[in-house]
Amino acid sequence: MCGIIGYIGKKPATPFLISGLKRLEYRGYDSAGICVLENGALEIIKEEGPIKMLEAELANKILNSTIGIAHTRWATHGRPNKINAHPHFDCQKKIAVVHNGIIENFQALKVLLESEGHKIISETDTEIIAHLIEKFYVDNLEKAVTETIKCLEGTFGLAVMCATEHKIIVARRGSPLILGIGENETFVASDASAIIEHTQQVIYLKDNEIAILSEDGYSLKNINGELLTGETQEIKWTIDEIEKGGFKHFMLKEIFEQPKTIANTLRGRVNNGSIKLSVNLDPKKVDKIIITACGTSWHSALIGKYLIEKIVGLPVEVDYASEFRYRNPIIGPNNLLIVISQSGETADTLAALKEATNCETLGIVNIVGSTISREVKSGIYLHAGPEIGVASTKAFTSQVTSLILLALYFEEQISGEVDRELINELESIPQKIQSILDNAKEIKAISQNFIGSHNSLYLGRGINFPVALEGALKLKEVSYIHAEGYPAAEMKHGPIALIDENMFVVFVVNHGPIFEKVISNIQEVRARGGRIITITDMDNEVIKKLSDYVIMVPSVSEELSPLVNIIPLQLLAYYVADLNGVNVDKPRNLAKSVTVE
Ligand code: M6R
Repeated sequence: MCGIIGYIGKKPATPFLISGLKRLEYRGYDSAGICVLENGALEIIKEEGPIKMLEAELANKILNSTIGIAHTRWATHGRPNKINAHPHFDCQKKIAVVHNGIIENFQALKVLLESEGHKIISETDTEIIAHLIEKFYVDNLEKAVTETIKCLEGTFGLAVMCATEHKIIVARRGSPLILGIGENETFVASDASAIIEHTQQVIYLKDNEIAILSEDGYSLKNINGELLTGETQEIKWTIDEIEKGGFKHFMLKEIFEQPKTIANTLRGRVNNGSIKLSVNLDPKKVDKIIITACGTSWHSALIGKYLIEKIVGLPVEVDYASEFRYRNPIIGPNNLLIVISQSGETADTLAALKEATNCETLGIVNIVGSTISREVKSGIYLHAGPEIGVASTKAFTSQVTSLILLALYFEEQISGEVDRELINELESIPQKIQSILDNAKEIKAISQNFIGSHNSLYLGRGINFPVALEGALKLKEVSYIHAEGYPAAEMKHGPIALIDENMFVVFVVNHGPIFEKVISNIQEVRARGGRIITITDMDNEVIKKLSDYVIMVPSVSEELSPLVNIIPLQLLAYYVADLNGVNVDKPRNLAKSVTVE
């Protein structure tokens, strides 16, 4: 949560800070602020609300400073107002701090600092960091920051400036920070999207590392002050991949990118009908798989359970990461813990991963170099490119694709055989998704009927039950319409009581053994006056008669059906939200990357 950007070089810092903040706004948009060093004094300008409020405030100012730090906030400690906005000062306004993360011992530190005379004005945990640095500061900011972080419990990505030193000191523990290495300039940011238009050379900071950025470049140290050599990596994403590419919102762009992103997830991993994954573990030694994740990634995990149990025959447990870590999970040495995370930074998922001290771990992650990707023993990158829309879409289909690849890989490693037909079919999925996208106008027209609705039910069975959950999550996240996902057959055990002519019910039903059973569920909703949208691959007269709207999808094997069925549900959520006037890329109260528990 929260986004940080910092710049030091030869050019005015403010334009870099503002453009970086705009790219980081998906991480939080409760308030934004910058700090620059002007004529030997630190100047902080901050505003409540999105970056454009800050930008408007800055329009009347001339700032020539070539050094600065900035922050966009997703509120944790303290309301989203101007006082709580970052950067935060110490008592003398000589030290300014921006912070992403949560300081767990901030109350105790606050009491201590106040007893020593410090005046703390905000409700944030961040402000105490500025005062602690002030307490330790003699004449060296780096030393004061090092002493300070030794006192902090919790998580932080920090960037700090001091009025008497032309430097930015950054430090991390648990919250992501990267350095961008340019010519005669250095950046720090929460992620690459903020700096990629200026440099593609980056260093991912590790926990307890401190970087000193000056006009001459940077140096990296550990918490004991020993010099380190950071590993510079090249980011391959282009700025075009990050921009909206002509679409109204990132979410829509990312929905339409899915034929390409799924192809990217598959690229190089299917070779002559065989699956190639760089997974350093022997599936023959695995006796149980546990998958843990949050949100959309948890829905992928549920699909993964279905796929692995069906294709590989290994038992799979799925848990919300936030529950897993607090329920004393029984993890055996022959178990495999799979963690799924688009960002690779979700705090609950990371904490769940840390529970697995005695077994193999595998990450399915999008962001290269993210914390989870570094902490797992082996992994599969999604290669879906940056996902900027807060509502996850293309990451979901790439996660499901990765899980299909993993199941097929395990099958081949364990039995020496693999379902080649399924592999061939998997390779045709991008084209099938394209055919649904080509029909987006039809879904847009149907979405108009949702206007004014307040409640909806999404129903599916088997591997399509998690698809119903994901469809419902998408609708509620971006349109604020209440949506509940349910296994279709469970409807009669309770939710059926909700059905009347104001209730929209979305069915996901494919050909196969349970087709007729779902038809009975559709009958039950029709009989109670519910309004029905059916997503199906069956050109079936009964469905047409019972449903108000039918959205046809290409017919594929059951294992692959989530990949096609989710597409109309994503489009439906997007169009309903856009018609309702919601800023789809920045739905209220949400942040893209939940790096706090
Ligand atoms: O980055 P992660 O995949 O770990 O994120 C997990 C959830 O926070 C995320 O999927 C969230 O539910 C999205 N807003 C869903 O659209």
